[in-house]
Amino acid sequence: MKQLLIASSIAYLAMTSLVTQAADQAIIDRYSKSCAVCHASGAAGAPITGNAAQWAPRLEKGMDVLVASVDKGMNAMPPKGMCFDCTPEEFQALIQYMATPKK
Ligand code: HEC
Repeated sequence: MKQLLIASSIAYLAMTSLVTQAADQAIIDRYSKSCAVCHASGAAGAPITGNAAQWAPRLEKGMDVLVASVDKGMNAMPPKGMCFDCTPEEFQALIQYMATPKK
């Protein structure tokens, strides 16, 4: 009985980590198809992905403001950052992804 419990909790842990991996992959796909065009290189003054110093002053505005900037567009950034079927939750995940330093 105890063994069964251990086995099922291991299976549960493996499953939840698979689910978060899948979510991360979906966000990375979104990023590559739209945001990366500008944010990978910093084209037109876009804050560069993984550059925490460039993202810090943006993050200070608060997540809601940033999501609204993407939704409406901002200067050289077109509305929705070229991801027309992205949800506000996805924009938030994309912003977190871009603001996180990459190894
Ligand atoms: C065509 C180029 C382009 C694309 C595509 C693009 N961005 Fe941007 N983004 C910019 C530029 C340029 C700025 C800087 C705007 C400024 O400060 O004048 C910016 C700024 C931002 C900011 C900061 C907004 C603020 O209020 O300071 C966020 C957040 C952001 N982009 C998220 C995204 C996300 C998420 C995507 C993909 C869904 C995306 N961008 C796609 C060019 C782009």
